[in-house]
Amino acid sequence: MREGYEGTGPGGITPDGCAVDLYARMPARDEPDIIEAAVPAGARILELGSGAGRMTHPLLARGFRVTAVDESAGMLQHISGAPGARTVQSPIEALDLGETFDVVLLASFLVHAGDPKVREGILAACRRHVSDDGCVLIQRETPGFHTDVPRERVDPAGYTLRIVSATPVGDGVDSIRAEYVWPDVTWTQTFLSRELSVAEFERYLGDAGLVVDRYLTEDGMWVRARARARVRSVR
Ligand SMILES: C[S@@+](CC[C@H](N)C(=O)[O-])C[C@H]1O[C@@H](n2cnc3c(N)ncnc32)[C@H](O)[C@@H]1O
Repeated sequence: MREGYEGTGPGGITPDGCAVDLYARMPARDEPDIIEAAVPAGARILELGSGAGRMTHPLLARGFRVTAVDESAGMLQHISGAPGARTVQSPIEALDLGETFDVVLLASFLVHAGDPKVREGILAACRRHVSDDGCVLIQRETPGFHTDVPRERVDPAGYTLRIVSATPVGDGVDSIRAEYVWPDVTWTQTFLSRELSVAEFERYLGDAGLVVDRYLTEDGMWVRARARARVRSVR
């Protein structure tokens, strides 16, 4: 388990506290629509932190080819063998496939990693694997993520997601406790998250050689970035 991360509930738990059976059960929401609208049809996607394929499977069904990366073998088991999919078990920070992709997908707020070294390693992996004319799609927290607590959302899939607490643990990092309450089972995840202003987010991207191309959603949650060299060569 990564330090500061914890998960409870039945089945396997990943090093960042995610429950494998929970992610295998949860359907995608609007993520595949947002991704499909932002990238070329049939693109080769490198999905970092794919989990059990909640987004991978709908993307495959829409004709994308997906290389799914996760440090959890238990998560990847739910993807391996799907037509058009390749799975790679690795920490994102250590990933070096020696190839580039049309799209690198970094969802699930992984850019908010509590440890700066992990964030830097993750963004470096994005830069390393995006082609010169490709893009990196990043999912960010929206305002209120750390302050509008406690809060809950009833999902049409039949569960309630509660963000129970956000407890400062120092250095601008909060320990977030989430509960996923289903009629038959409850899973919890505790994880570290660093709130990032837009300026900080864009600076960290810049440090990794990436630059924001466009905020894709009005709430600023989804961002398309490109390699900085590519932007320079276009101007
Ligand atoms: C919150 S789950 C989300 C999974 C998937 N993106 C989704 O939306 O359903 C985060 C996943 O990222 C993986 N993960 C988190 N940090 C990672 C890292 N540094 N390297 C590799 N995998 C990581 C976890 O194992 C977990 O499967």
